[in-house]
Amino acid sequence: MPSSDLESILIEWRGSVSNHEINVLHAEAFDHPILDDDWNEQLQRLSLGWVTARDDQGLVGFVNIVWDRRAHAFVVDIAVASRARHRGIGVQLIQTARGYTTDAGCEWLHVDFEEHLHDFYLNACGFFPTTAGLMHLR
Ligand SMILES: CC(C)(COP(=O)(O)OP(=O)(O)OC[C@H]1O[C@@H](n2cnc3c(N)ncnc32)[C@H](O)[C@@H]1OP(=O)(O)O)[C@@H](O)C(=O)NCCC(=O)NCCS
Repeated sequence: MPSSDLESILIEWRGSVSNHEINVLHAEAFDHPILDDDWNEQLQRLSLGWVTARDDQGLVGFVNIVWDRRAHAFVVDIAVASRARHRGIGVQLIQTARGYTTDAGCEWLHVDFEEHLHDFYLNACGFFPTTAGLMHLR
């Protein structure tokens, strides 16, 4: 990947973002209709922070980092727009989150994911595999 590819992308921690921008990106990434969720209320209330990625056409990447206000932070809702994938934006979102989460005093950054994202999280982003449990509640 040429470095100029990423130089045109603005990556920001806790960058200003509208609810509609996230709703559109989330719907595309997770294949559901565009919702009317109040992301900014949730981000302010529950998140340590979030990372946005923008190109000259708008929001192309987002990740939300929630936490327990102590040692543990969790990656949720990472999404990169289809038109901008495989340019290293997803890795940049995680690396940026990692830096600020470390600065906040957390010791662990967690993520869970489906098997097809093994290479993204374990090889490209630098997470190591661990045993984890998950309970389906509804
Ligand atoms: C997962 C996602 C965020 C990756 O974003 P991205 O910007 O394309 O990722 P990067 O360009 O930083 O990827 C780096 C490497 O990770 C791996 N990778 C990235 N996306 C992958 C995918 N969907 N499947 C398998 N490996 C993937 C590849 O090895 C890639 O290198 P390559 O481009 O040379 O093949 C993006 O595909 C996405 O938004 N998917 C839909 C939403 C989703 O599933 N989110 C995760 C919920 S747990």
